[in-house]
Amino acid sequence: MGRYIHPVSIGPVHLANNLLLAPMAGFTNVAFRLIAKEVGGCGLVATEMVAAIGRQSPVQDKRFAVLTRNLPQERPLAMQVYGNDPDLCGRTAAALDAAGADIIDLNCGCPVRKAQQAGCGVALMRDPARVGAIVKAMVAATTKPVTVKMRLGASAQNRNALEIAHAALENGAVALTVHARTGESKHGTPVDLSGLAEVKAFVKARCGEAVPVFANGSMDTAAAIRAAKDEAGADGYMIGRAACGDPWLFRNLMAELDGGEPYAPTLEERKRLLERHFDLILDLFGEERGVRVMRKYTFFYCNRLPGVRRFRDRFCRITSRAEFQQVVDDFFADLIAGRHAGEVEHLTLIDEDGGGEH
Ligand SMILES: Cc1cc2nc3c(=O)[nH]c(=O)nc-3n(C[C@H](O)[C@H](O)[C@H](O)COP(=O)(O)O)c2cc1C
Repeated sequence: MGRYIHPVSIGPVHLANNLLLAPMAGFTNVAFRLIAKEVGGCGLVATEMVAAIGRQSPVQDKRFAVLTRNLPQERPLAMQVYGNDPDLCGRTAAALDAAGADIIDLNCGCPVRKAQQAGCGVALMRDPARVGAIVKAMVAATTKPVTVKMRLGASAQNRNALEIAHAALENGAVALTVHARTGESKHGTPVDLSGLAEVKAFVKARCGEAVPVFANGSMDTAAAIRAAKDEAGADGYMIGRAACGDPWLFRNLMAELDGGEPYAPTLEERKRLLERHFDLILDLFGEERGVRVMRKYTFFYCNRLPGVRRFRDRFCRITSRAEFQQVVDDFFADLIAGRHAGEVEHLTLIDEDGGGEH
């Protein structure tokens, strides 16, 4: 463990390393998190955001159960609250604690219109006092460490990350993650490490090294991680989109930054992991829904492989585990035999301009 990759603590929770999986709605369910942990190199996994809603119905209870389902092997585990009412966020933090969270995070970064209209996600950054009140309510409701995930501001005109950091720390947050863009910038725009550096300097002046600041936003290459450390003093790195379909990314980044050997999975290993992932997904969602859920992961796993477009067309029509196996067997048999030789194909899987995403 060296300058870039090292253990880190979030309050009393000790992480073996400082590469974190980002919370991603529709992606970071227990199956995906377990895969990330099994492949290795990921210091902390997180659930997607869980809405802080007052009235409970059987449908909402079921959704909560799916979002928070977890296994001992994936721990430590962060769970995330999404909301804007301090009381409801506090009650949700207590529910997440009871469901098995080791760390409870507050979402101050989601930029989608629906979130903004509800005053949630990055819209919370427009109201530092409310962020403080929510963090305070969450801290009061749980014994688990509370953290905040934010951006540099709701918009370029409202870059108030230091105010939000102040509100969070003042009320008991013990770590911050900063997606180093504002709420209106697209995923493709470069991250602003100077904004991140300001947050880190502010936190360090106030709390020393006791409160880590994690960098987020395209932290998917060794160069990006070195820059986040060297230019902004980041204590760790949170990775989102790039980990989808490439769970080997964590250990490869670690190898590159720590002087170890990078690891290139063979086609057979890629196929085996895809099959294991599907079995975990079936367990979570059942066959009918699981087949649909698995599509997005499968295209990530197979993206940039020759013949992936044809494979996608076939895969979109499957309705069962047996059909999955057939289509995947055929695709990989052709790949291994070199029958798809030709152009590597690239599918756009998450809107490159960040539309609809966080
Ligand atoms: C599909 C998708 C879903 C996301 N869901 C969440 C979420 O539930 N909570 C959250 O804080 N951020 C969410 N994010 C934002 C990511 O956590 C992360 O901040 C963002 O993708 C930037 O990191 P990256 O460049 O490594 O992907 C989501 C992003 C994507 C692409």
